[in-house]
Amino acid sequence: MCGIVAYIGHKPAKELLIEGLKRLEYRGYDSAGLALMNGDLQIVKAVGRVANLEAKVAKTKNLHAHMGMAHTRWATHGGVTEPNAHPHTDDKRKICLVHNGIIENYATLKKVLSERGRTFHTETDTEVLATLIGELYEGDIEQAVQAALREVTGAYAIVVWCSDEPETFIAARKGGPLMVGIGNGEYIVASDPSAIVAHTTQAFALEDYNVVKITRDGFRTSTIDNKSVSPKVMQLEMDLEETELGAFEHYMRKEIFEQPNALRTTFRGRIDLNEGRIVLGGVAKFAKELVKARRFTLTAQGTALHAAMIGEYLLEDLAKVPAECEYASEFRYRNPIIEENAVVVAVSQSGETADTLAALQEAKDRGALALGVVNVVGSTIARETDAGVYLRVGPEIGVASTKAFTGQVAVLTMLALYMARRKFMSPYESAQLMRELEKVPDHIERALQADSHIKSVVEKHCAKENWLFLGRGYNYPVALEGALKLKEISYIHAEGMPAAEMKHGPIALINDGMPCVFIANKGRQYDKVMNNIEEVRSRGGHIIAIATEGDDAIRDLANDVIFVPDVPEPLSPMVTVIPLQLMAYHAAVIRGHDVDKPRNLAKSVTVE
Ligand code: AGP
Ligand code: GLU
Repeated sequence: MCGIVAYIGHKPAKELLIEGLKRLEYRGYDSAGLALMNGDLQIVKAVGRVANLEAKVAKTKNLHAHMGMAHTRWATHGGVTEPNAHPHTDDKRKICLVHNGIIENYATLKKVLSERGRTFHTETDTEVLATLIGELYEGDIEQAVQAALREVTGAYAIVVWCSDEPETFIAARKGGPLMVGIGNGEYIVASDPSAIVAHTTQAFALEDYNVVKITRDGFRTSTIDNKSVSPKVMQLEMDLEETELGAFEHYMRKEIFEQPNALRTTFRGRIDLNEGRIVLGGVAKFAKELVKARRFTLTAQGTALHAAMIGEYLLEDLAKVPAECEYASEFRYRNPIIEENAVVVAVSQSGETADTLAALQEAKDRGALALGVVNVVGSTIARETDAGVYLRVGPEIGVASTKAFTGQVAVLTMLALYMARRKFMSPYESAQLMRELEKVPDHIERALQADSHIKSVVEKHCAKENWLFLGRGYNYPVALEGALKLKEISYIHAEGMPAAEMKHGPIALINDGMPCVFIANKGRQYDKVMNNIEEVRSRGGHIIAIATEGDDAIRDLANDVIFVPDVPEPLSPMVTVIPLQLMAYHAAVIRGHDVDKPRNLAKSVTVE
């Protein structure tokens, strides 16, 4: 779930490890620790922020080393305490390791190891893995790690050190991201490219069941069965400047306001108005299969799922192809029917979400063509797909996803147009919609201008603990996204639903002054939404309407109106979501919460 950084080379490791952990902070965590190897093994841990660890390290003498490992923890087994923070050692302090993930059979292993006389000092599953490796060590740390990993079930990304082989690291992964940066006489192992690119842009990602032995002189990659593997070295593309906060107070605010330019990059080179065609190089190889596809299954979690739901509407509305959207966590276990000529689309910002990856693999195993709509280049999901389209919105640091959402919707819109044009849509009709698509960044810019008005609306209601978000058609997933944004950073309970669903029970919730956000921009179901607003209003709900500029009628019905530019309905989610992102942001700031690192959340959920 969280962060790993390890270094072996000629630079002072202490500062490099702390800097690396700070690059990973955005992923969310509850404690941190590091170990330095300089002939001796020195471990420092701290609960809370990396700054707490940094302060403890500053007070600790003789931490001079050119080799070390560090970790930010998101606790799964054992409370958030200093002893439970990583790195962990076995009871003989021969083995030291950091671990992202879950050792699912740790209890059984712990029992067997205890019966062999091994002792434990923490509540974590990770300590059991360290002890197992120590128990299996017979003079070769690579073999001991391979043997141990053949015995564990669960998910892991680990870096292991052994006191008998002090100039060696062993890294391994199954179900959690881990990359190896190749420097000049130095190697950086990390769970995210942002901790590597400051030192080198040459790197390779470990695949599931890969084990890498690293010394200053080089590395060897194998499987847990000790079969040699040749890694695919890639050029990391992340620009560290894009991960800086700049003049903004929070990453989330920066990323909300980055959306116009982020989408301009998403569209760049992909909208060919002369030919009236969308150009998606990443799927061109499968253009025929896409045109012949009889069904699309889109799968994701969280915000990405809401974007995927919009993709379902777009594929049916524009490309006239049957489509369904499924929670990845449900799809993977539901025994899904995958017909001939089926396409599965995994939507993910990080490209590391465990459920989405598993759902993708399940669909691939059943014969589907696998596409990815992913932001992080070279991520696991991106590598697992047959083809895909990168979002190109730049690194998203805030845990609450904003520009990745609009980027996902933008790519799914282009995919639907790509299909429509190849199936039946005329160059003229396609070019018309594409011209409107090119204007979306400008419309977002205009929607962002309502920021201070949105803040004033939120100030009136952010003490209210229950909100509803309601929309129809394309704006039903937008309502879900608005509710999720508010929930995850302001901790206000919010529920999104189709506006028509109110009458089937939830309307019982309406009490005097309850904030009810309606996405009520002009569209095919505008009149129906107005009726739904009346239903809520007559029961005392406080109506906050997201409406189309120039719509005066809505002023008579809504208590507060936030206007957005008039956009063709299929393109409207990228614009109607903007006020909802800002509402959530202001509610969290007013309520005094950590906007970029909300409690209990991680940026990338790499465990089930
Ligand atoms: C978004 O605001 C949330 N932090 C979360 O729902 C996220 O969208 C979800 O975990 C999926 O992540 P992914 O896009 O990296 O796969
Ligand atoms: N399961 C381990 C623990 O609870 C690792 C959690 C993580 O990935 O940070 O310590």
